[in-house]
Amino acid sequence: MTLEGKAAIVTGGAHGLGRAIALRLAHDGSDVMVADLLGGDAEAVADEVRALGRRAASFEVDVSDAGAVGAMVMATVEAFGRIDILVNDAGVSGESALLGMEESFWDRIMAVNLKGNFLCSQAVARQMVAQGEGGRIVNITSTAGANARPGASAYASSKAGIIQFTKVLALELGGEGITVNAVGPGMTLTGSEVKPAPSDGYQKAFVGQVPMGRPGAPADIAAAVAFLASTDAAYVNGQVIFVDGGYSAGKLSVSG
Ligand SMILES: NC(=O)c1ccc[n+]([C@@H]2O[C@H](COP(=O)([O-])OP(=O)(O)OC[C@H]3O[C@@H](n4cnc5c(N)ncnc54)[C@H](O)[C@@H]3O)[C@@H](O)[C@H]2O)c1
Repeated sequence: MTLEGKAAIVTGGAHGLGRAIALRLAHDGSDVMVADLLGGDAEAVADEVRALGRRAASFEVDVSDAGAVGAMVMATVEAFGRIDILVNDAGVSGESALLGMEESFWDRIMAVNLKGNFLCSQAVARQMVAQGEGGRIVNITSTAGANARPGASAYASSKAGIIQFTKVLALELGGEGITVNAVGPGMTLTGSEVKPAPSDGYQKAFVGQVPMGRPGAPADIAAAVAFLASTDAAYVNGQVIFVDGGYSAGKLSVSG
């Protein structure tokens, strides 16, 4: 139980990877605030956390709204008395090539993925600094943050931004005992009720570039997050772990 006595916030925790991360942290001993745009679904995951014997709470939040993020932090402190771990998982994706992209499309992806990460990290880091016992921030980026693909300029830029944001925060907060790291999933099939799975063609093309020959599973991503949240990762700071079966390592390789 490496996370016993800890209190975590998982944004985007109602579905997909966030749900798997919330349950893994609870399995490892942490209490969990499940924060999501979909408050009812977040409460259902909080129930799953309670079934694992941990304290849980849920909060309906739009991570791009500073006021709502502040209220989320207050509600977490009220529920658990402290915050030790923040997982910035909430994110939106979508494809749009530059020439036809709507300004609102770009703005929403940046607001949720990048500004949301900033707002949550700032509000939680202030709480962690006030507590004076350090903490862990784990950001969810993507292989798209390091590997370009057509149609993904907004999403890929937001995820590349998260990588650099992670590294700068690691420098700024390291002295406070707060580590800041990122996990970059490759294509991961989540069974999410709110996000359709990629098309068969996309899945086949992606997996064709994965040396391990399979897509990611939510448990693969949650395990890396749990490690970075644990005391075992006490000296890991400012790093990005791509959990992608080797996809990004071999992206441009040619054999034969
Ligand atoms: N699944 C993948 O293949 C994959 C790959 C790389 C990166 N990621 C990243 O992992 C994270 C989770 O992805 P997923 O596949 O589980 O997606 P998902 O859509 O299944 O889950 C995302 C969750 O975030 C919530 N959310 C969306 N906007 C929000 C907002 N403004 N405020 C609060 N909550 C909000 C949704 O309600 C949902 O519960 C995202 O950041 C995504 O970019 C996913």
